Amino acid sequence: MACHSRPTTIVLSVEKKFYIETFGCQMNAHDSEKVVGTLLAKGYSQVDTPEEAGYVFYNTCSIRDKAEQKVFNRLQSFKRTGKGKIFAVLGCVAQQEGEKIFDRAPHVSLVAGSASYTKLPEMLIQLEAGNKRVTGLSLEATEAFDTPFTRRDNPHRAYLTIIEGCDKSCSYCVVPFTRGPERSRTSASVIDEATKLADSGYTEVQLLGQNVNSYRDPSPAGWDFATLLDRVGAVPGIRRVRFTTSHPRDFVKPIIDAIDANANLCNHVHLPVQSGSSRILEGMRRLYTREQYMERISWMRGARRPIAITTDIIVGFPGETERDFEDTLELLDEVQYDSLFAFKYSARPNTGALKLEDHISEEEKTRRLAVLNERQRAIQIRRNSELIGAVEEVHVEGRHHSLGQWIGRTSQNRTLNFSGHEAEAMIGTYLPVRVTRAGPHSLVGESVL
Ligand code: 5AD
Ligand code: SF4
Repeated sequence: MACHSRPTTIVLSVEKKFYIETFGCQMNAHDSEKVVGTLLAKGYSQVDTPEEAGYVFYNTCSIRDKAEQKVFNRLQSFKRTGKGKIFAVLGCVAQQEGEKIFDRAPHVSLVAGSASYTKLPEMLIQLEAGNKRVTGLSLEATEAFDTPFTRRDNPHRAYLTIIEGCDKSCSYCVVPFTRGPERSRTSASVIDEATKLADSGYTEVQLLGQNVNSYRDPSPAGWDFATLLDRVGAVPGIRRVRFTTSHPRDFVKPIIDAIDANANLCNHVHLPVQSGSSRILEGMRRLYTREQYMERISWMRGARRPIAITTDIIVGFPGETERDFEDTLELLDEVQYDSLFAFKYSARPNTGALKLEDHISEEEKTRRLAVLNERQRAIQIRRNSELIGAVEEVHVEGRHHSLGQWIGRTSQNRTLNFSGHEAEAMIGTYLPVRVTRAGPHSLVGESVL
């Protein structure tokens, strides 16, 4: 390299700079952290805008059509001005659309799904050698993308992947196609990573997987998810363990027993129900009925600490009648969720639900979504107000400069912003805070120190 003339050196330095934008879920956010760590370790540097970068990476989501369109809009905006840059599409849209992306966006040179990221440095070398079209689309069930170079975005709460892929086949979902079959990491490598995180100052970890409940240690120790959860909570230095996401079919009582037995396991469970109608659940191929789902809820309600329960719901699944939708609204009243994410059904390529009849109009889906969100908002206002006067332990995550408040999060995963205590290095600490006000989405309080 030393013999290059000066202008070439400038070009090279731009080429070694990358910009990455991430769409979608926490799995994607964490994949991007791994990609960033891997590239930094190979001598690349990260920049804040695509304009400064030689490489522009989009780590994409295809769970709903809207998410998928976002990346094509981004790519479109660089069609003319992106000359000289290398555009890469990573993640779920890459896996789903494969080489078709080159036709749709000819200025893209790399298309790689999440199972191929270990090979990313080699793929970049191919591009640097002048190759114009590089793909990494194999979904071979190799080990989870495990890298010693993860560069985490949040200095206090760390994502930790325990299982990749999904072996369920919910009829609306692209994930089994984009992330492949389930692969669990060994318990030793999970505990090793949790220990390293604790040693480097992290006190909160979030175990990640498309279906963490079906975790099965591939090593002879053979731990199930409840055992893994308990052991991660016992790693010295770890004060909070969260996990996402759970499938009701594989959600077993020992998980609640573990939360009961170990105060480091957060009292929050995200348990996506998708619909309150057993008929629709069957069409979705969710493998449980409303009654079986409610049995899991009763385990949680019987726990020693109050467990916050959150969920995901899809409205307007093909064939969803007004009666089915009413069943979902009644389920909200029955469970009294602490929060939920609701989505309009979006038809996805390759999925079983494409073949179903009675697709619901966009207008009706929009109406149902609004009705559902309104119903839930009232529940949240009531539930959150019940906390006024209570003292909650918060993990301090940041500072709202404009409001003059600290940002905190409770074990139940509620945002509790507070004032009343000013000290150096508050961020990352745990403090008792009294709740003084409640809104539908967050709480406000005063430090009791
Ligand atoms: N349409 C709408 N929502 C979907 N989800 C998954 N697939 C679809 C789809 N095709 C929702 C589910 C899931 C969440 C992550 O996204 O509620 O739990
Ligand atoms: Fe999709 Fe169902 Fe797997 Fe969740 S469990 S990722 S909804 S197929």
